[in-house]
Amino acid sequence: MVWDSGLAIYNLVTWNLPANAVVPQGCAGALGVWPEYVPPQEGDSRCSCPALNAMANHGILPHSGRGISFKDLSATIRQTYNFAPSFCLFVPNYAANMLCRNYWTDTFDLSDLDVHNCIEHDGSLTREDSVDQPDQGKPVRHLVEELLASGTGPNGDLTPADLSRISGKRRMESKRRNGQFSLTTFHKFFGSSNSSTMLTILGGRVKDLRPFLLEERIPDGWQPRIRHRMGLTMAEFNSTALRVEFGITEEVYGDTSNAAQKKKTL
Ligand code: HEM
Repeated sequence: MVWDSGLAIYNLVTWNLPANAVVPQGCAGALGVWPEYVPPQEGDSRCSCPALNAMANHGILPHSGRGISFKDLSATIRQTYNFAPSFCLFVPNYAANMLCRNYWTDTFDLSDLDVHNCIEHDGSLTREDSVDQPDQGKPVRHLVEELLASGTGPNGDLTPADLSRISGKRRMESKRRNGQFSLTTFHKFFGSSNSSTMLTILGGRVKDLRPFLLEERIPDGWQPRIRHRMGLTMAEFNSTALRVEFGITEEVYGDTSNAAQKKKTL
């Protein structure tokens, strides 16, 4: 956290990078030119994370989604999405620990990340609960369409309030439908953190989120919306995630249509 805070301060006192310089020269996606998109083939491993699947679909991670070293994952998410080095070390390390593997020497397949209630959890925005959808490697079109249609920002883009509302709705629906529903406070925050990347790294832009979430494809010409020199720190990222999580009222009031109204009248 000390390191991350240092990076956040550095970002505050330095100029942002020009849009074309965020992905370093020589790396996949430099100047918005992404390697060819090839959808997953029979036998390829995919997971519940659209961002990692998209990297595999473009060959930035092995297209098979198999035998990925945790260390390589750290390096490539830094270059591809401009997350801060602190995040790029912390999350793959967390994943390695969760899978009882060694961050420095071991590898994983993308589907390994779908161990229920480790990072993957119920009530997600792009997947049905694992009890209904054991293969978490594919997006669920109707959930993604509902998410994309919920934007109230300029051009229908997603705002933090939109994510709070739709997350509350998804959690309520899941609770009603899934007799084995579980979502600890920790996983609620994890869920809001994952979904907040749609606001930060992707800027909430529905135009980019559509191919990203439905095809798990990085749109042509796309570049990370975060242009800070040290990338998106956990400090900055958490402030968006907390805003989304604390904005969720539907789950508390148990009724999506009236939740906002009830809150106002209290
Ligand atoms: C460092 C490695 C990463 C790991 C291990 C990881 C893992 C995961 C997992 C397991 C999920 C499923 C959670 C659920 O059940 O909803 C998830 C969801 C997600 N992740 Fe990642 N992720 C990583 C990096 C990223 C990055 C860099 C981005 C954005 C650029 C991202 C964006 C998302 C989004 C948008 C979701 C969907 C949230 C939802 O459906 O509610 N992830 N991630």
